[in-house]
Amino acid sequence: MRSAKDHPDVSPLSARASPPLKGRARVPGDKSISHRALILSALAVGETRITGLLEGEDVLHTANAIRALGASVERTGEGRWRVHGVGVAGFAESEAPLDLGNSGTGCRLLLGAVAGAPITASFDGDASLRSRPMRRVLDPLERMGAQVVSATDGGRLPLTLQGALDPIPIVYEPPVASAQLKSAVLLAGLAAPGETTIIEAEATRDHTERILRHFGAEVSVDPVGERGRRVTLKGQPELKPQPIVVPADPSSAAFPLVAALIVPGSELVLEAVMMNPLRTGLLATLSEMGADIEVLDRRSEGGEEVADLRVRASMLRGVDVSPHRAPSMIDEYPVLAVAAAFAEGTTRMRGLAELRVKESDRLAATTAGLVANGVEVSVEGDDLLVHGKGSVPGGGAITAHMDHRIAMAFLVMGLASRKPVAVDDTAFIATSFPDFLGLMRRLGAEFS
Ligand code: S3P
Repeated sequence: MRSAKDHPDVSPLSARASPPLKGRARVPGDKSISHRALILSALAVGETRITGLLEGEDVLHTANAIRALGASVERTGEGRWRVHGVGVAGFAESEAPLDLGNSGTGCRLLLGAVAGAPITASFDGDASLRSRPMRRVLDPLERMGAQVVSATDGGRLPLTLQGALDPIPIVYEPPVASAQLKSAVLLAGLAAPGETTIIEAEATRDHTERILRHFGAEVSVDPVGERGRRVTLKGQPELKPQPIVVPADPSSAAFPLVAALIVPGSELVLEAVMMNPLRTGLLATLSEMGADIEVLDRRSEGGEEVADLRVRASMLRGVDVSPHRAPSMIDEYPVLAVAAAFAEGTTRMRGLAELRVKESDRLAATTAGLVANGVEVSVEGDDLLVHGKGSVPGGGAITAHMDHRIAMAFLVMGLASRKPVAVDDTAFIATSFPDFLGLMRRLGAEFS
């Protein structure tokens, strides 16, 4: 399905059994916060300075898109960006379609922001993004007054959206736990008079709410049931720029972290990793599996809690992972499955339906990758079961399916398996973690 337009260079790579990983590293800025920092800066009046921005392809696509919609966007140094925003509902029409590349987050959040502006915009992306469901976002945006002018296959890209002239505030209960969906509705709700409310059955990452408050919007958050939240935004605020510091991405830290757990003799410190409790499900799960992870020097950075993580190679055991943990570690299942393959016993990961609609069908890609490397695995309904034997034969060939996390997870597997693991294409790693190979090599990882 991949074409030259999607990404010009196909980059195959193998990972092999490596010496102990040692040292300290800081992974790049959080992808979720980086997209939101750019989009909310574009909706503020005046200039926002962002530091620590992830300069991965996904975020660069979002930067180009807000520029096309009228914001002025300038890179002033490494991870340092200056955005001059146009105000809520102030977007201008772009002549060319907005190209969001591989990024579901950039696309869905911008659909929300455009839905609240009196403009028409076309959205497109690569073959992976074109295959992903957008209907879930378009449904509430249509209720708010936006109109889908054209779309492909029942609500996929390429599509054209006409924003609402008079956006209507709604009360919305998302049918799936999705921070992208919640954020799209909140961003459209910025332009609506009155209150827009989202009632989540399971709380999802709250970065949009936090930045909205940081910029002076009124957002109230109340618990609903055991795990849910009611989020209410008061519409038509004037968003006031404030500096944004982007903390290190826990979803990127997950790869060196699991690598250190499975490569014998390893000891790493991962610096200043964001510890937002809606993002730390992997740490909780790995700790239950017996991982030696010390959380050091908890502190606050840019409005988020961060900590240094000291990780030592560990004997892991299989565990049962509740479906309620999924929202706090939705992007970490491929690499958790790799950890589970090196554990003793069965790890059952429950309730993974959403993995089927990520950058690839991650349930299928993870299963295929494990089987190719001699790991016993099964899928029962939406549950993934990995039957760990304490070590992994390896020697498999992985198809990455234009999915950065599948590529990184299986390269990590190859660092500790008996035979090398070959990944057909690692080019998409640049969407979220451009220096992944460099950082891993500096810690001792061997790729060729
Ligand atoms: C994200 C939300 C999650 C996650 C994605 C980033 C976000 O997607 O998988 O990588 O920044 O809001 P869903 O909202 O579709 O679960």
